Amino acid sequence: MPTRTVSPPSVDEVRNLLRAVIDPELGANIVDLGMATDVTVSADGLITIGVKLTIKGCPLRAQIKNDIESRLETHPGVTKVKIEWGEMNAEERSEVMTKARWNARENATDTAVPTAARVLAIASGKGGVGKSSVTANLAVALAAQGHVVGVLDADIWGFSIPRMLGMADRLAAQRIEGFEKPKIIPNERVVGTGLLKVVSTGMLVDDESTALMWRGLMLTKAVEQFLNDVHWGDLDYLLIDMPPGTGDVQMGLARMLPRTDLIIVTTPAVSAQKVAIRAADMARRSFLRITGVIENMSHFTCEHGSVYPLFGEGGGATLAHEIGAELLGQVPIEQAVAHGSDHGEPVALIGSSPAAEVFRDIAKKIIASTIPVAEMAGCSARLLESVDIALSKKQH
Ligand SMILES: Nc1ncnc2c1ncn2[C@@H]1O[C@H](COP(=O)(O)OP(=O)(O)OP(=O)(O)O)[C@@H](O)[C@H]1O
Ligand SMILES: [Mg+2]
Repeated sequence: MPTRTVSPPSVDEVRNLLRAVIDPELGANIVDLGMATDVTVSADGLITIGVKLTIKGCPLRAQIKNDIESRLETHPGVTKVKIEWGEMNAEERSEVMTKARWNARENATDTAVPTAARVLAIASGKGGVGKSSVTANLAVALAAQGHVVGVLDADIWGFSIPRMLGMADRLAAQRIEGFEKPKIIPNERVVGTGLLKVVSTGMLVDDESTALMWRGLMLTKAVEQFLNDVHWGDLDYLLIDMPPGTGDVQMGLARMLPRTDLIIVTTPAVSAQKVAIRAADMARRSFLRITGVIENMSHFTCEHGSVYPLFGEGGGATLAHEIGAELLGQVPIEQAVAHGSDHGEPVALIGSSPAAEVFRDIAKKIIASTIPVAEMAGCSARLLESVDIALSKKQH
C-alpha cells in the first residue's frame, strides 16, 4: 500500500467507498445491509472496520475482504485496512434478511442497474484511443459467451455506439408495473446465445446536429437518467463507454454507482506515461477501482508478416505497472477493426483475425475474474432459504 501523502478519508467517505462492496447473494451493499459496523479512521490513514457476517464461517469472507481492501485502497489517504470480523446475532440476522428480501422485492437499489451485474466503465486518459471500439467488441464477445450485456453510451455528445453495434432504432418508453414513470426500454440485439441491451443518446436524436442541442444538458444528468430510468431487466454485465476528456461523468458514476470498475484503454505511445498519470489521477479523484489496462493499436502486421510498432511500444505495460493493474491484452491495428465498427459488425463478432482473438481473450479474462452468484458457496442464500422455510412453517 502506498505511503500516505494526503489526508485520510472521513468516516463518511469510507462508508461511501464501502457502498461499492456488494454481498452478491443478498443483492445489496454491506453498508445498507448493516454488515459494516464501526468505522474508525486514524490520523495516519489506518482504517478499522467492523464487519458482521451472517454466519461466522461464511465462505464469502475472503471475497468480501478483498473487495473492501481494494475499494478502500483507491483512496490515496488510506495506508492500512484492518477488518474486525464479527457474527450477527439472531435479531441482526433476521433484520438483514428482511432488508435483503425487501430489496429483492422492491428492486430497491440506488440505480436501476441490477446489483448482480458487474459494471465496467471503459475510459482513457485521452480521446481517440479506441474506447468505443473496445466497448463494442467486448460487449459482443461477452454476449457471444451467453451473457446478457448492457451497454450504456455515456458519450452523450459524441456517441458512436449505435453505429458500431448497428443498433440505431429509436428508444421506446413503456409503462412498467410498479413504477410511476414510464421507463426507457433498451434496444436489444441477440448475439449467439447472449443478448445486448443498449442505450445511447444516438437513439434519441436523429442526427449529429440535433445532438448538438444536448450541449446544454448536464452530462452527469443524462448519465443519471440512463442509470435510473432505463428498464435494464436482468444483466450479467454493464459496459459503459466513457466520453473523452471529461472527469465529470466519472465523478458522477463514482457517486451513483461506486462499484463501477474502470478499464483504461491506452495506445503504446511513449506519451502513455503522461496519460498514465492523468488516468491514475482521475481514478484517484473518483475513487474507482481500476480492473485492467488494454493497449489498443499495438502494432501493425503487413501482408508479408512484418510487424510495425506504428505508435511505439510498451505504453500498455508501463501504464499497467504505473497504476498497479493487469494488462488485459494488446489489440493490434487492423483494418477489420475499423471496418467492423463502421458497419455495425464488430470484428470480435464474426472475425477470425488476431484483433478478434484478443478481444475474445479479454472477454474470457473478464468472465474468469467475475464470480458467478450461482457458484458461490451460498451462505447467505442458504440462510435466506432456511429463514423462509421456518417462516412458512410458522404460518401453517
Ligand atoms: N485496433 C484498431 N485498428 C484499427 N482501427 C482502430 C482500432 N481501434 C480503433 N480504431 C479506429 O480508430 C478510431 C477511433 O476509435 P474509437 O472511436 O473507438 O476511439 P474512442 O477512444 O472511443 O474515441 P473518442 O475519444 O472520440 O470517444 C475509429 O475510427 C476506430 O474505427
Ligand atoms: Mg468513443
